[in-house]
Amino acid sequence: MSHKVYLPADAGMIEYIGAVRGFTAELEKRKGSAPRVFVQTFGCQQNEADSERLAGTAVAMGYLLTDDPQFADLIIVNTCAVREHAEKRTLSIIGQYKHIKEKNPDLVIAVCGCMVGQAHRRDELKMRYPYVDITFPPGTIQIFPKMLAERLAGGRRSFAVPEECPEIVEEIPVHRESSYRAWVSVMYGCNNFCTYCIVPYVRGRERSRRPEAIEKEVLELIKSGARDITLLGQNVNSYGKNSEFDCSFAELLDRLACLEGDFKLHFMTSHPKDATRELIDVIAKRDKVAKQLHLPLQSGSDRILSAMNRHYTLEQYMGKLDYFREKLPDASVTSDIIVGFPGETEEDFEATLEALRRARYDRIFSFIYSPRKGTPAAEMDGQIPDDVKNERFSRLVALQNEISLEKNQALLGKALRVLCDGVSKNDPDMLEGRTEQDKIVIFKGDAAMTGQFVEIVVTRVETFNLYGEIKK
Ligand code: SAH
Ligand code: SF4
Ligand code: F3S
Repeated sequence: MSHKVYLPADAGMIEYIGAVRGFTAELEKRKGSAPRVFVQTFGCQQNEADSERLAGTAVAMGYLLTDDPQFADLIIVNTCAVREHAEKRTLSIIGQYKHIKEKNPDLVIAVCGCMVGQAHRRDELKMRYPYVDITFPPGTIQIFPKMLAERLAGGRRSFAVPEECPEIVEEIPVHRESSYRAWVSVMYGCNNFCTYCIVPYVRGRERSRRPEAIEKEVLELIKSGARDITLLGQNVNSYGKNSEFDCSFAELLDRLACLEGDFKLHFMTSHPKDATRELIDVIAKRDKVAKQLHLPLQSGSDRILSAMNRHYTLEQYMGKLDYFREKLPDASVTSDIIVGFPGETEEDFEATLEALRRARYDRIFSFIYSPRKGTPAAEMDGQIPDDVKNERFSRLVALQNEISLEKNQALLGKALRVLCDGVSKNDPDMLEGRTEQDKIVIFKGDAAMTGQFVEIVVTRVETFNLYGEIKK
């Protein structure tokens, strides 16, 4: 299901959107059909949200959306740099676009997102990928029309750097993938500098949108039928810090949860050091806030947490989790865990396993540590060999799978409210949807229910999925 919301862009952007429109009109006349844009997204929800704005901007510039790069006149690759694997895969895909450009000399290839926030990757694209026309890092979507217009006018290839757009630009055109699930970025950047992480280098310092601008966007979404709205930020609960307005994340969430309508609010990601009682109280108090928390622990060893620069101990983390569970006993809790951080001993790793047994997460996202150029951890002594990392990773996943299954077993026979996402990806005869706790539920029903809430009774469970029947 596709849905468009077009908001007026700021004046500087409008001028260049108009300039690109001139080129796309000319291309359409020459070729007999409107030029097409293919947007490809890697990485996290922030990138998904950015890609919806890139697609909206491209449509405003006269492109039609396509899901086949072979027919595209503009390819936008929105990249991730969080782990080496993500970068390698993206570079190899960009490499394949060379062949499309050989067939279609009008094609413009734009690369954006976190990977091109790094100087060495920009240099690599400049030198070894001559068919890449422009690159711009996260937080600079507003200069995309200008860069594209200049390139289409015969200008040189250009490679924007992160410092070019420190301001937040509101009301960039947006093309949303779904009419009922929506992303709303409430802040950008990260100040935490966890020693393993590239994000603060490529997404810059924390900047928060004004609460009125967020409320306006959320109101429009509710009016247009959004049922599930996720507020996004790398460290969403430092929202409002160091800004000229006075509004914490807990206050923002409370304000949005008081809006009229049939919708649920989710948010991610919360940094444990900033997960306050005030925030937990808002989640508990307001019906419209989904009863779910993603609270990445990363490691169960205080020594490793300190080397990671996480600013909390295991006991401080567990104290917050205990308070959350006391207030919200039925809520789901998820986490991110990294194995094989430099210097991680078997004992440190065992502490992580023990933390999983204590926390009893519904689900974790587990990662093998990947050294990122320019981060302190990449330079640390005690890098862990791949075979040890892999072996720890398997043990971590095996333990969590047991816990996830047990958690799901406790839901057997329960009635859950599910937002239907349509035909199941795994079984064309079934529908699937997600609960307020973000669990996937598979059930039989009419695809016309897509985008609606349905009551499902859970009849069978697996590690990752629940199965059920519509409540009579
Ligand atoms: N801002 C969020 C998420 C950042 S990236 C947070 O603080 O939780 C998502 C996850 O990727 C992180 O939580 C971490 O578990 C993982 N990650 C980040 N850098 C990594 C690296 N270099 N190697 C392996 N995993 C990494
Ligand atoms: Fe990376 Fe840490 Fe910031 Fe999350 S909080 S984005 S893990 S530096
Ligand atoms: Fe990747 Fe950037 Fe998100 S590095 S995980 S796309 S913030």
